[in-house]
Amino acid sequence: MNYRDLANPGVFDQPIYVPGKPLDTVAREYGMAIESIDKLASNENPFGPSPAAMQAIEEALPNLHLYPDGSCYALKLALAERHTLSADQIILGNGSNEIIELLGHVFLGPGAEVIVGSFSFIVYRLVAELFGAKIINVPMSDFKHDLEAMSNAVTDKTRMVFVASPNNPTGMANDQCELIEFIDRLPEHVILCFDEAYAEYLTEPPDLRPMIKHGKKIICLRTFSKIYGLGGLRLGYAYGHADLVALLNRVRQPFNVNALAQIGGLAALGDVAFCNRCREENERGRDQLIKGLKRLNLKVYGGSANFVFVDVGEGQIVFEKLQKLGIIIRPLANYGLPDHIRVTIGTAAQNERFLSAIHSLTN
Ligand SMILES: Cc1ncc(COP(=O)(O)O)c(C=O)c1O
Repeated sequence: MNYRDLANPGVFDQPIYVPGKPLDTVAREYGMAIESIDKLASNENPFGPSPAAMQAIEEALPNLHLYPDGSCYALKLALAERHTLSADQIILGNGSNEIIELLGHVFLGPGAEVIVGSFSFIVYRLVAELFGAKIINVPMSDFKHDLEAMSNAVTDKTRMVFVASPNNPTGMANDQCELIEFIDRLPEHVILCFDEAYAEYLTEPPDLRPMIKHGKKIICLRTFSKIYGLGGLRLGYAYGHADLVALLNRVRQPFNVNALAQIGGLAALGDVAFCNRCREENERGRDQLIKGLKRLNLKVYGGSANFVFVDVGEGQIVFEKLQKLGIIIRPLANYGLPDHIRVTIGTAAQNERFLSAIHSLTN
C-alpha cells in the first residue's frame, strides 16, 4: 500500500494553483541577474512595502521569540476604526486566501453549490473543490461578472457566490447599483463572498456595509498584498456580520497571523500618504500601458486594478518570449484565456521596458 492508496479520494481531483514565477527561479533558469528581471506577474506593488511598515518590522525583530497575539487585537481595532465597524466584525488571515479556505471549512461540503464567474480568481474553485462542493460556472459578460446570470444560477443548493470587483484576472469592476440589486435578489441561504483585493485602487469602492447592517449575508475580503505592498508577509482580512465572523474564528489556527505581519500591517494601514502615492502612480502607469498597447493595435482592457488585461493572440508564446527578455508576465491559459495575458502595472520605467519588449515581439 502506498501513500496514494491512503490519501483522501478528492486529493486527486484537486487542481493545482500555478503562481507567478519567482524572480530567483527565472534568474536561475535563464542565467540572468535578479536585478535585470522585472516581475509584472503577480500584481505586487512595484513601489515595495510602505517604508513605515519596514521600520516597524525592524523594530519588532528582537521580540520574535514571542508568539503573536492570536486575536490580532491592535490591528483589528485599527481596521474597525478605518471601516467604522466593530472589532468582532473583523477577522485577520494568513492572506485573504486563508479566509477563503476558512469559508470552505464552515460552509462548504458535498451537496453544496458554489457560483463563480467563468474568468474569476482561481482560488474560489480550488477551495470549493477541496471541500467537495459543486462549482457552478457562470459566463462573464465582456469579462465582467454577469450578476443577473449569477443570480439566475442560484438554486436551493447554492451556499456561496464569489464576486471579485475589480475581478482578477480581467480587471473589470461591478458598480454599487448593480451590486445592490444583485444582493437584494439573493435568498437567505446564500452567502456572498465579495472580494475587494483591489478596492484601494478605486477612488470610490462599492460600500456593502449598509447591506451587512441590514442582515444581508455578505463577507467582504481585503488584502495587504496589493496596495500596501506586503504580499510576502501574508496578511488579509474580512469583515461581515459578527455571527459570521465568529464562525470563521472557530476554524482558524490559534496563531494564523504572524507577529511581523500584524506589526507591519498596522504601520502600513497608517501610512495613508504611501497608499495615495501608489494609487496615483498606478493610474499614470495604467494610462501609459493602455496608450502603448493601443499603439501596437493590441486590444487592452485597462480595468480598475493594478494590472491590465491584454489580448495578444498567443498568451503562452508571448509569456515565454518576454521571459527570455527578463520580463515576467502572466499567461492565462489556466483561466481558459489562452489568447490573453495579465500585466501588473509597474513603475514608469518597468512599463516602458515592457512596452518596448512587446513592440519588438510584434514587429
Ligand atoms: C481577487 C483576489 N483575491 C484574493 C487574492 C489573494 O490575496 P492574499 O495575498 O491576501 O491571499 C488575490 C491575489 O492575487 C486576488 O487577486
